Amino acid sequence: MNHPSPQPGHAGSKHGTQIPSQTSESLTTSQGSPITDTDHSLKVSDRGPTLLQDHHLREKIMHFDHERIPERVVHARGAGAHGIFTSYGTAGDLCIADFLQSGKQTEVFVRFSTVVGSRGSMDTARDTRGFATKFYTEEGVFDLVGNNIPVFFIQDGIKFPDVVHAVKPHPDREIPQAQSAHDTFWDFVSLHTPAQAHTMWNMSDRGIPRSYRMMEGFGVHTFRLIGTGGKSSLVKFHWKPKLGVHSLTWEESQLAAGADPDFHRRDLADAIDAGHYPEWELGVQIFEDDGTAEFHGIDLLDPTKFVPEELVPVQLLGKMVLDRNPSNYFAETEQVAFHPGHLVPGIDVTDDPLLQARLFSYLDTQLTRLGGPNFGQIPINQPKNPVNDMLRDGFHQHKIHEGIAPYKPNSLDGGCPFMSQLAEGELPPLEYPQRVEGEKVRAEPVSFSDHYSQARLFYRSLSRTEQEHVKQAYSFELGKCTVPEVRERQLQCLANIDAALAQAVTQALGLPVPEAETAPGEVEPSPALSQVGGSWPVD
Ligand code: HEM
Repeated sequence: MNHPSPQPGHAGSKHGTQIPSQTSESLTTSQGSPITDTDHSLKVSDRGPTLLQDHHLREKIMHFDHERIPERVVHARGAGAHGIFTSYGTAGDLCIADFLQSGKQTEVFVRFSTVVGSRGSMDTARDTRGFATKFYTEEGVFDLVGNNIPVFFIQDGIKFPDVVHAVKPHPDREIPQAQSAHDTFWDFVSLHTPAQAHTMWNMSDRGIPRSYRMMEGFGVHTFRLIGTGGKSSLVKFHWKPKLGVHSLTWEESQLAAGADPDFHRRDLADAIDAGHYPEWELGVQIFEDDGTAEFHGIDLLDPTKFVPEELVPVQLLGKMVLDRNPSNYFAETEQVAFHPGHLVPGIDVTDDPLLQARLFSYLDTQLTRLGGPNFGQIPINQPKNPVNDMLRDGFHQHKIHEGIAPYKPNSLDGGCPFMSQLAEGELPPLEYPQRVEGEKVRAEPVSFSDHYSQARLFYRSLSRTEQEHVKQAYSFELGKCTVPEVRERQLQCLANIDAALAQAVTQALGLPVPEAETAPGEVEPSPALSQVGGSWPVD
């Protein structure tokens, strides 16, 4: 299914606002009064002072002065595209979500991003990439807000400000703008060792993708699907690119950054313009929901862990094709607001403490970034199905609500007429009735305390060439760390992960090789896990 390009002067006519913009034949003020001269301010004689009464000058400058909004606190640099998701209908009894029913087509908007750099930073920095997808389903918006790496640095959202402060540029000189090679990053990940697995993925070729079109995507957390009869299953979401997974070499990434800082953004837009529409298949790893959220010693609620596909293959649910570039970067790519709490009946969250904090964070930050509580009305964020949310007023309210007052129960008017027409139980509940009990504590589960085995599992799954790249990446990036104790602490972590890796990096840095420590929390891999070999042919 192809979407026609919007006509010039109509911002996003298919997905966007239907209000024609800037189409009158003559130039006007923003209030519509015709103006004949927008090139000269109103002055006392042609060389005299400018008059404060020049309201056209003031309006024009006032608006220009406020053209910029705050960039995202993370994932500031991104590129987006529109497309269509087509369900294979293979979800069957697993999930009641309407958009997963057979043959169903759903419009999507995807935003790819780097995490650390500012809005103007280079595309090819060594970093994690965001892979956020908005599905405009008939049952509301579903956002799958994922990354191109299946694990995360932290296990509890309360650590998110810490990790972000550590990876962002140093506060004094705002250097480096876009890369992981600095003292605070290495300080944090070597002290907060749950970050070691994600760091390993960053130091691998996955940290410098060839193209957004050639990246996998991961929901990272374990989610819950609700099937027919209310049956719950635990799943991990995956996007599989049709073009396969490809990376740049470090040298290529550096050259591209210098020659074309927009390398990935250009690649995505050019491919779509040329009709080479990028495609991904959406799939899930499925786990029985037996109440333990555990698989072969892996706590499925721990977002620093992935489950090897050799043990749980990905079952494909549908295909996404991105076939239309945004017509206005600001209106679409910049103003889009993703949120892991945008869920539809049949998809629910789990108790992963990172996911739980995200459910607060996105709405909160967007309240500031997008100027008040009505950013859901921005065209790119609007659901495509009818909405009756009982919300009213607030900054930048664009709706003219009818009726007297939105409240329930309500015998006079309005309220929630759609709901009142439906008998109790006719709509599936949004939340799964999960049983919870326990004491209020601030504590880490014991099952979260193994911080090295997954870094090792991933490293040992790589081909020899890929392992060489990892050694070179650690040697280069740690070589940029100026604090000897921090470097040594990270080298100790590498020794705990893999002796040969630690040896190669310490030698490259001219330092003595540390002995592996018995890492606290290290667990014997289960027989199934210990049999997982390299998923790539070893050359
Ligand atoms: C933005 C993914 C963890 C807070 C984003 C974006 C992605 C993403 C893809 C960019 C969205 C866009 O393109 O507009 C992830 C993943 C995480 C994670 C996969 C862990 C598995 C967290 C956590 C927090 C957080 C733990 C806070 C507790 C934010 C914020 C933004 C953001 C504040 C900016 C949103 C905006 O301004 O629109 N994240 N994130 N993220 N994330 Fe996360």
